[in-house]
Amino acid sequence: MTKRLHGFDIDAWELRWRGLDLNALPRTESIFALSNGHIGLRGGLEEGEPVGTPGTYLNGFYEKRDFPYAEPGYGYPQHGQSLVNVTDGKIIRLFVEDEPVDVRYGHTGEHERVLDFRSGTLRRDTVWTSPTGRRVRIRTERLVSFTERALVAIRYEVEALDDDLDLVIQSDLLANEPIDSQGGDPRIAAVLDRPLIADFAVARNYSALLAHHTAASGLRMAAGMDHELEAAKRPRCDVHAEEDLARLTIAVDVARGDRICLTKYVGYGWSSQRSVPALRAQVDAALAAGMETGWDRLLERQRAYLDTFWSNADIEIDGDPEMQQAVRFALFHVLQAGARGETRAIPAKGLTGPGYDGHSFWDTEIFVLPVLTHTMPVAARDALRWRHSTLELAKRRAHELRQAGAMFPWRSINGEEGSGYWPAGTAAVHVSADIAHATVQYLAATGDTEFETECGAELLVETARMWASLGHFNGDGLFRIDGVTGPDEYSALADNNVYTNVMARQNLWEAAEICRRRTDLAERLNVDEAEVADWCASADAMAMPFNEALGVHEQSEGFTRHARWDFDATPADHYPLLLHYPYFDLYRRQVVKQADLTLAMYLCPNGFSAEQKERNIDYYEQLTVRDSSLSACAQSVLAAEVGHHERAYDYFVEAGLTDLHDLHDNVTSGLHIASLAGTWLSCVAGFGGMRVCGGEVRFRPRLPPALRRLSFRILWRESRVEVEITGESTRYRLLSGAQVELWHHDEAFTLGTDPVVLKVPPRESRKAPKLPAGREPYRRDA
Ligand code: BGC
Repeated sequence: MTKRLHGFDIDAWELRWRGLDLNALPRTESIFALSNGHIGLRGGLEEGEPVGTPGTYLNGFYEKRDFPYAEPGYGYPQHGQSLVNVTDGKIIRLFVEDEPVDVRYGHTGEHERVLDFRSGTLRRDTVWTSPTGRRVRIRTERLVSFTERALVAIRYEVEALDDDLDLVIQSDLLANEPIDSQGGDPRIAAVLDRPLIADFAVARNYSALLAHHTAASGLRMAAGMDHELEAAKRPRCDVHAEEDLARLTIAVDVARGDRICLTKYVGYGWSSQRSVPALRAQVDAALAAGMETGWDRLLERQRAYLDTFWSNADIEIDGDPEMQQAVRFALFHVLQAGARGETRAIPAKGLTGPGYDGHSFWDTEIFVLPVLTHTMPVAARDALRWRHSTLELAKRRAHELRQAGAMFPWRSINGEEGSGYWPAGTAAVHVSADIAHATVQYLAATGDTEFETECGAELLVETARMWASLGHFNGDGLFRIDGVTGPDEYSALADNNVYTNVMARQNLWEAAEICRRRTDLAERLNVDEAEVADWCASADAMAMPFNEALGVHEQSEGFTRHARWDFDATPADHYPLLLHYPYFDLYRRQVVKQADLTLAMYLCPNGFSAEQKERNIDYYEQLTVRDSSLSACAQSVLAAEVGHHERAYDYFVEAGLTDLHDLHDNVTSGLHIASLAGTWLSCVAGFGGMRVCGGEVRFRPRLPPALRRLSFRILWRESRVEVEITGESTRYRLLSGAQVELWHHDEAFTLGTDPVVLKVPPRESRKAPKLPAGREPYRRDA
């Protein structure tokens, strides 16, 4: 029997929810969201209501909002950006003998929804009895096409179960849907009131199209729909369009046991430049291509696309079926977030909900891009190309802040700084080093010289220039970077945050390396030898605050002298602390919101000795409350490295179930894409011990005690490698491509056509430190 937890059946390749639970609807809208990285649809019911948060998104389509500052200051961003809920094309309403199908009324006998990781579709099967006793079965399936980027397709089938029935189906395009505002949580989006202004509406035969624009950002969009209908009897159809609504109405008699089946194709286009006629042409073309391909072939292509993805990316877990499902769910959503973004940002929530206003953060470069780099490198490249496309804005921002080079925004949709809160926004300058880091990792894994030439070198050089100007030497010969905020947002405007400093150091070294190797690019970017020497001198002298008495690094200078947060006096329901205590208090205490130094030790592994890593982990674990979903996976990686094996697994579980079990109580506003990507990091960098350093890839695999077997695949250069970890040994297999040089626990070897099996040294376990009261990792059995 399949085990059910939190509403979902446990199954390796799908996520199934049985039964109707209206309270769970808002969160399943995020979990069942479909996206190809360009279009995103929340997983609402086709009938449009009941609904938690309606959501249809186009990557990069936003409206500008003015920031109302109580006290303005120099360099404060003047506008923010908010992702727009665009014209909803997934609505299909049904009337049974005049009664609207609405699961809040009548009786819903059977109801299940399935997100299928291999077909890339969301299916639904509902048996509904109207208040006057008429029974219908509704089966739907929808997809956001990975292969036809501008296209959505929905199959909607109704069967008359007991009687001959008069049915009316209304298929809509609906703009400016009402959305409820959701209180004062800063992680939830600002609600835009009617953001779309109508430009054009047309309807003909079975099709219609609406075009709109936004008032302040001046972006234009068009949505169009067309349909195919299969019905035994001839239906009566009517189509019309007005400013914010286009509707195809189909009235048909369906005999008992018969079905009517409607296939709806929805096409989207948007642009900041193109005219309404040009957008209309684009949408018409997408619809024509979709109709020509037809539903069956769209399904086939979707499956073929996913087959390729899984053959590069799958992770197999033996011994924990729930985590097997969670990992595939995670990979599926990471793919959906990044697949067809094509030089647009990957938002923190993907396109699954309005949370964080649809902004992207460093989440992309540090959590999501490692996964894409090793499973779908084209998507990683495109996300970095987006960063590169915003370089001029980043340079302008640096100039405004009196710095050289480029300063990338903390949060943004269009490349401008979208954070109005200075201490945890602009001051989080590490984002620029994070972008440089992802660039270097991508180049190491792919050897993509075209990208290096067009974008990579410039990203490294302009960020290095910024660090060189932001830091300074003082009398002690150290290069200091003062007044910045690291990943831990419970400390702000600190001096020499170790994470920032080691990442900046790496950035400076890598920029120097690329300029020495590619003198053509150095010349093009006006880098001379003196500048390279200056970068190296700064990097070599980078301050790394260390408390000799405690034998640990200071997260930032002076951190270990702060008073400890009183964890014992903090009630469990006062987490996340940011919703219950003022930053004034948090900033003055030793309390860590999320992995900071811990993450630095993973990303710059050679910057710390093994002993330092152990001592640092022992110290900072006791202070880290994981109020951000980005934390558990990073802690898992380091726990695995220092020998806290059970804890590493617990954190992995927490990262993997963050959304499925709604651990942060905010999944309704979208999935946590970084945490989902983090489950891959736990498996590959944690249990697989993978690190990419100096152009080499190294593994230190260790099977977690909870599992019998763990295998994962990575793309490295032109090759596809499988790593299969069992108790005492690890088997490396070349699935395709040329032979590769790899490392296994300090031993170099060549992997060619024959698999290589290597022994795993015995596991040394260390006792994990006590965690802050009430902040133990999530327990499934609790
Ligand atoms: C975290 C940030 C993260 C953001 C978006 C915040 O809660 O502290 O590190 O970038 O969420 O996921």
